[in-house]
Amino acid sequence: MNKYLDDHRETFNTKLSQLLPAQHNHASNLHSAMRYSMLNGGKRIRPLLCIAAADAISENNSATFSVAAAIEMMHVYSLIHDDLPSMDNDDLRRGKPTCHVKFNEATAILAGDALQALAFETIADISSLTYQNHIRLVKILAANIGCSGMVKGQAIDLDCSATNLNQEQLDEMHNCKTGALIEASIIMGAITTQKMSDAQEESLKIFAKKIGLAFQIQDDILDVESSTEEMGKSRGSDVSNKKSTYTSLLGLSKSKERASSLYKESIDALEVFEHKADPLRVLANFIISRTY
Ligand code: IPE
Ligand code: IPE
Ligand code: MG
Ligand code: MG
Ligand code: MG
Repeated sequence: MNKYLDDHRETFNTKLSQLLPAQHNHASNLHSAMRYSMLNGGKRIRPLLCIAAADAISENNSATFSVAAAIEMMHVYSLIHDDLPSMDNDDLRRGKPTCHVKFNEATAILAGDALQALAFETIADISSLTYQNHIRLVKILAANIGCSGMVKGQAIDLDCSATNLNQEQLDEMHNCKTGALIEASIIMGAITTQKMSDAQEESLKIFAKKIGLAFQIQDDILDVESSTEEMGKSRGSDVSNKKSTYTSLLGLSKSKERASSLYKESIDALEVFEHKADPLRVLANFIISRTY
């Protein structure tokens, strides 16, 4: 199974590099900043979920890889902006200086903006899908990253620094800021097969919602428990920004219990796919046991 993940990650990274603008543009550092933030490691969990979801339905294809690239562009745009001084004000990302530290703040904002546009262009360029499925991809991506999805979650996160949310509000924030793009990765990957039934979509959505929430809970746990070296981002960022997190609300051991029960529920939702969901199972396990 590690070979499945390694091979697909490598194919994905090659495709991603081809889709990004060439390093050298003389007008500014924009292209360099985009490549710097996109091609600097990263676990590639969302692209791998996208590919594994396609394989759970039937098999991945070139449209799956385009969608995976578009999703990683969105994710990296969200990280560049998340790290800005006006947001989490972080200096380290994936073990390297954050985009605004390496370049400058304006370039980092623009690199994020450009990656968002490039994500939609990448989806528009897919030629193998029916009109209906093509439009569904655009709709799901836009809806899940925008004012009802990721950006909404980030807005709640910033509004609520220093205040304590209750668990329901915290779930909503986590579902939006992290869960929404993870759900999009899985459902969009499955759509690229053009073979998903309604019942399969329902099961994948349950899986996605459970593992998406578990993902951000684990991220909160790591902010407390892991190390800056291991994570490649500054440990204790949430504490110094007085964020409302799972660990600040429930403490470490209750947060771990919640992550682990969400993981178990996510695995139950995959039963209908039998062995075809094995790559999704491995990724789910990685999400809750990861140390970086
Ligand atoms: C970090 O995501 C940001 C969150 C949504 C919690 P990842 O942990 O997937 O970061 P990379 O892509 O591997 O750097
Ligand atoms: C980030 O959440 C969520 C998005 C980027 C949308 P965090 O602020 O917890 O992510 P890290 O810990 O900086 O990676
Ligand atoms: Mg943040
Ligand atoms: Mg952050
Ligand atoms: Mg975090």
